[in-house]
This record gives sequence, C-alpha cells and structure tokens, in this order.
Amino acid sequence: MTKASEVLDRVLVLEMVRVTEAAAIAASKLIGRGNEKAADAAAVEAMRTAFNTLDFDGTVVIGEGERDEAPMLYIGEKVGRAAKGAPKVDIALDPLEGTTITAKAGANALAVLAIAEQGCLLNAPDTYMDKIAIGPGYPKDTIDLAKSPTENIKAIAKAKGVGPNEIIACVLDRPRHEALIAELRALGCGVQLIPDGDVAGVIAVTDEDTTIDVYMGQGGAPEGVLAAAALRCVGGQFQGRLVFRNDDEKTRARKWGIPDEDFDRIYSLKELAKGDVIFAATGVTDGSMLDGVKKLRKGCMTTQSVVMRASSGTVRWVRGEHYKT
Ligand code: FBP
Repeated sequence: MTKASEVLDRVLVLEMVRVTEAAAIAASKLIGRGNEKAADAAAVEAMRTAFNTLDFDGTVVIGEGERDEAPMLYIGEKVGRAAKGAPKVDIALDPLEGTTITAKAGANALAVLAIAEQGCLLNAPDTYMDKIAIGPGYPKDTIDLAKSPTENIKAIAKAKGVGPNEIIACVLDRPRHEALIAELRALGCGVQLIPDGDVAGVIAVTDEDTTIDVYMGQGGAPEGVLAAAALRCVGGQFQGRLVFRNDDEKTRARKWGIPDEDFDRIYSLKELAKGDVIFAATGVTDGSMLDGVKKLRKGCMTTQSVVMRASSGTVRWVRGEHYKT
C-alpha cells in the first residue's frame, strides 16, 4: 500500500490547488450578491465534485457540520475515488471561509483545506477556540495562552526589541473581544479589527507585509485547525484552547473524541496538525494573502492560490487562468 506521506508529496500538492480553485471560482459568482448560503453551497458542491475526481481515500474530519445538518462534506463523509490501496488521508476543509465577506464583497474570503495522514488533525468540534499566533523568527515559547494578553504582548515586544506600543494585533471585531481590545489599546498597541475570516487573520502574522505581529481572540475551532496547518508549513507559533458556550457543545466535542480532561487544554501547533500536512487556499475576494477570483474581458477567470507542505517546508504560489468556467 502507498504510504500517505509519499502521496502527499508527489501527487496531492497540486491536486489540492485544483480543489480550492474550483470552490473559489464557484463562490466568486456570488460575490456581493448578499446571499451567504448560496455562496457557501456553490463552494461546497464544487469542492466536493473536485475531491471526487481524485485518487485517494479521504475522510472529512473538519467539514460543513454533522451528517444530519450538512448534505455535503459533512464530518465523516468519504471523498475521493478510493480505489484499492489508495492512500487514506484526513481532510479539514472550509469551502468558503468568509461567507458574509463574500456576500458583502469584503476582503479576505478564501476557499481553504488541509490534508494529513489519518489521525493527524484534531477533530475540532464546531465551538470557539481561544487563539494566539505569531509568525516565524521568535524564540521558542514566546507566546503562552495561559498568560494574560498584556504578558504576551510584552513578551512579543521584548523578543522584537520594541515597546508594546509598536506591536500590532489582529482581532475579530466582536463584542466578546471588548475587554481584550481595551487591554491592547491600554498598552498602546495598534489593533486591526477584522469583520470575519480569522484563517486569513492568523496567517497574516507570517507575512511581514501585513505588519501584523500577533493574532489574538476567539474564533471558530475548525478555523483554528486550518490556520495551524498553514503555520506548520511556514513557521510561526500558535496555541489554541477550546471554548464551550453550553453543554451541547461539550457533548459534540466528546462525540468527536475530545475527552473531558482536554476541555481546558492548551493545544500546541503540532497537537492541532501533526505529521506531514498540506495546506491549500485560493482567494475568493482580494485579501492580504491572496488576490480574489477575477473575470477578465478576454474570457477567462484568474485565481491565485497558495499550497504549502509541512515536511518539505515548501510554499508555492499558483496563478491560474481558467478558460472553461
Ligand atoms: P464563516 O465563513 O463560516 O461565516 O466564518 C467566518 C468567521 O469569521 C471565521 O473566520 C471565524 O473563525 C468565525 O466566523 C467567527 O465566528 P463568529 O462570527 O461567531 O464570531
């Protein structure tokens, strides 16, 4: 039988771009149309169709929801042609990360996925996750979710050799982050508030052009695993802790194999996405990392994607021209 790691390397890297491109192109037809559900449905269907042309035995471990609530790409769904001996991979996906962004034609909507060998991605329940992330180049353990935002900002500033007032933090613009934002502003930090899309927000810390030093706050747990997969490939530090709002969310977590003793656990990057991981994303709308899908007058659609692989530490930027869409 083929080892999954060999196949992640040789075959699937570019195939994953085809999958995110298909989802992004489908969603792009609904940019600015005010219909989140339709944009998401288009991306989901296109991603599923693209997956099912591939020669692998994939299982969705982070997807559109549980089987009874999501008709396609539900958690546990098998995708790929799964011929005998095909490599078995786990998949975390978000065919449209930023449904509201897309409906409103805002920035940073992505079609995104990560694949890994079986059992290597945390089966994150659909809860929130407290997140902190910084880019590469910092001393080990610079950030610690167990510490206060102030302590973390001071540690980052010290490592950078600047004052806390020179640190720029990216935070989702939500009422639940009022205290966090006030604490950051009291330190003099610049706070970049994003309306949605914290996968792009986390990845922004790895790109110096964004000037964002740190991502902080609560966003979706599934998005946390996807962002962690990307940081595994490009470097950087990330910690995440599940946040439960009610017992129902705890029940869901147990169902996906999270034991009660891990409910307060601080997960490291490698506990969220371990082993060899491939991360792929295609821009739906223009963003800090990727250009969105464009329809050119010459009759083609263009896409920009990035695909990364943890074990080789390669990052490839792919511009696609699509004449038959
Ligand atoms: P969707 O694409 O599912 O709408 O998610 C967008 C998003 O902003 C994520 O990036 C983020 O993790 C999550 O929603 C935050 O959730 P909430 O909107 O409940 O604060």
